[in-house]
Amino acid sequence: MGRAQRILLLSAGVCLLVLVATGAASAAETAAGEEVESVGSGDTVLNVQENNETDADTDDLPVEPPTEESHPGYEYIQREDDTEEKIELGEQLYFDPRISETGTISCNTCHNVMEGGDDSRPTAMGVHGQTGPVSSPTVWNSGFHHTQFWDGRADTLAEQAEGPIVADVEMGMPDHEAALDRVRAVDGYVEQYEAVYGDEVDSDDPEDLVTLEHTVDAIAAYERTLVTPDSPYDQYVEGDEDALSEQELDGMESFQELGCQSCHSGPMFSGQWDEPESGEGFYQPHPTFEDNAQCQEYVEEYDLMENPGRMGVTDDEADEYSYKVPTLRNVEHTAPYMHTGQVPTLEESIRVMAACQLDEEPSDDEVEDIAAFMTTLTGEYPDQEMPRLPNPSGESMIPMDADGDLQDIEEEPADDNGVDDTGDTDDGDDTIPGLTFGGAVVAIALVTATALIGYSRRRND
Ligand code: HEC
Ligand code: HEC
Repeated sequence: MGRAQRILLLSAGVCLLVLVATGAASAAETAAGEEVESVGSGDTVLNVQENNETDADTDDLPVEPPTEESHPGYEYIQREDDTEEKIELGEQLYFDPRISETGTISCNTCHNVMEGGDDSRPTAMGVHGQTGPVSSPTVWNSGFHHTQFWDGRADTLAEQAEGPIVADVEMGMPDHEAALDRVRAVDGYVEQYEAVYGDEVDSDDPEDLVTLEHTVDAIAAYERTLVTPDSPYDQYVEGDEDALSEQELDGMESFQELGCQSCHSGPMFSGQWDEPESGEGFYQPHPTFEDNAQCQEYVEEYDLMENPGRMGVTDDEADEYSYKVPTLRNVEHTAPYMHTGQVPTLEESIRVMAACQLDEEPSDDEVEDIAAFMTTLTGEYPDQEMPRLPNPSGESMIPMDADGDLQDIEEEPADDNGVDDTGDTDDGDDTIPGLTFGGAVVAIALVTATALIGYSRRRND
């Protein structure tokens, strides 16, 4: 082999290494088994002991539970100014499709509180049938999350709620003012805003009352009420030994033997606790064990490495493929699973987690037991009633020309991935599409290779 060829081969090898190494960097951090055991002991540690005053001593229970805290209930996240009027206003806004461009999409379309708080679809479908790149998480118990979205790009429920109204794959309003103007045009709404916020702003001008801040504040107040306490698991940790069946107890043991609670700990099984809405999330790479052969198949089949994850927010390579550890509360009702919404069943999601997060392969019996255990995390859903929405008299809240953009959108369809052409993942904020980073690495690798080849040629010449 000539010198030029050798250099060429070498440089190709280096490029490959660079590619592989960058991809694996984030996974490698937690790739060692012991490190996984200690997840939650970094700066994102949450003091899991703090909230357990109400819980009984779990030592006498037949199987030691993965977390001793039961669901803390609404009181824990309720705010002083979460008045009945505010919650009612928030609920109306949550259910009102007329605030979307086409008058067809409300928050409830994608987060259906008549069921699991999601849309049962792989990825969400907004105005004009457009789909986004990720799955709708449940809104049940979302008031307990420290950050919102799969990648944690909003700190609070209120901040989160600003996004979907203007996201073009969701409610699709051109801007917030346009949405607010629709609300301002309805006397019934203005009166309600006045009842809730009138004293605070000392004005009866719809412009001062119906603001974005008040709108998302009211929606968040309603969302905080979406809590599901008193699951069989909660009854168990509070001392009722009979709350779980034999199989569910077996599943609880397997859950712990495999190490699921190293990430899914705390009362929400989302690895975090402390004050809600602190803005400090608990993120973990998925996959962690990228080299596990079974995991590689899952990654391929369920598109698990197509989005940048938390890196899309922080621009930090270490955060690539990292996601907020999702709650497992009511998880039996939120299929399909994972951020891509591609994993069809609870059993399959357990297999994916075991292979990709723990380098384990549980037996079919174990998987069934764990699934049975996970159903014990389903709490009591408070009944939801469809609210009566204020209505203008003799005219529609949606302007006659509101659909005018339909033509343009049909001419520029979303691309194959369903990612809209701005690369927005979801609720408004821009995130970097997965390809951008990968593309940059490939480009750098190519440039390096070309330079090396050129160099070796010159030397040989
Ligand atoms: C077209 C479907 C759609 C609509 C409409 C929609 N959402 Fe979402 N929502 C999503 C998707 C998809 C995500 C996840 C996006 C991500 O993480 O990048 C999400 C995330 C959330 C989250 C974060 C939950 C978590 O666990 O991180 C909350 C809370 C939420 N939405 C509330 C709302 C509210 C309130 C509205 C109405 C103002 C709304 N959504 C409208 C699809 C939708
Ligand atoms: C290293 C941390 C870690 C471990 C260990 C772990 N998980 Fe997860 N889990 C995650 C992350 C992060 C996600 C979100 C991944 C994604 O969407 O791609 C997740 C998602 C899930 C989901 C899907 C939830 C949804 O709403 O779509 C289920 C179910 C689940 N985990 C169960 C388990 C079980 C059961 C185990 C043990 C076999 C386990 N997890 C172990 C971090 C972990």
